[in-house]
Amino acid sequence: MAVSDRPYVIASAAVSLDGYIDDVTEARLILSNDEDLDRVDEVRAWADAVLVGANTIRADDPRLLVRSEARRAARVAAGRPATPAKVTLTRCGKVDPGARFFTAGDAERYVYTCDSTVGVVRSRLGAVATVVGAGDPLELPRILADLRGRGIERLMVEGGGGVHTLFLSAGVVDELRVVFAPFFVGQRDAPRFVGAAAFPQGPDARMTLAKAEQLGDLVVLQYHPR
Ligand SMILES: NC(=O)c1ccc[n+]([C@@H]2O[C@H](COP(=O)([O-])OP(=O)(O)OC[C@H]3O[C@@H](n4cnc5c(N)ncnc54)[C@H](OP(=O)(O)O)[C@@H]3O)[C@@H](O)[C@H]2O)c1
Repeated sequence: MAVSDRPYVIASAAVSLDGYIDDVTEARLILSNDEDLDRVDEVRAWADAVLVGANTIRADDPRLLVRSEARRAARVAAGRPATPAKVTLTRCGKVDPGARFFTAGDAERYVYTCDSTVGVVRSRLGAVATVVGAGDPLELPRILADLRGRGIERLMVEGGGGVHTLFLSAGVVDELRVVFAPFFVGQRDAPRFVGAAAFPQGPDARMTLAKAEQLGDLVVLQYHPR
């Protein structure tokens, strides 16, 4: 899918050294540090929209707002909303309309779901988001083209693993930014950065390392898939 027909996509994740993005406990695993959170905030401020999977909303209840007052002000001065639009994907639609994804800030919110479930999902979430049917099963090119048609030119994909697997395996990630935390999780059932898939970024198509940056005890790697 040509980048002219979809948003430019930056995928972002924080990962343990053994490839996990969370542990099996209820509490959110802290992989990041203050400097890194500020780096992520800068990418959010760049984005027209941020996207997370429905499981991340259920697990983390993220706000997905730009934290820095200066960055929000700069966006407004440039004629943009103070914080990016929020986007999620769900097949079953079991997402709480009281989640902070919907209640924090006043950005536009989009929920993409299957054509067969769009009625049910709209009755649950239609008051707090624009609910869009995008095929059965969900068709990522349709979702991206729809977002582009709504003026979303820069999309930040923040996870979790299901969503990163979907975007990377579809070959629609233009930049990948992964921060590695200096510890192991070591729990077989914890969520991984990506699941099994036929990735176009396999051993025969090594990504280009554009930047490596140390932030305290973290390392941020920035890749450009070919
Ligand atoms: N460290 C980090 O950077 C980071 C960032 C974000 C999240 N996380 C962690 O990641 C975990 C959640 O990750 P996850 O992999 O379980 O879930 P996820 O990627 O957040 O969401 C997956 C959900 O997206 C919906 N979906 C619809 N179509 C899909 C498709 N084709 N492929 C994949 N998903 C599709 C489904 O929702 P329905 O089930 O509603 O149908 C699916 O269950 C949490 O533990 C969270 O803390 C970590």
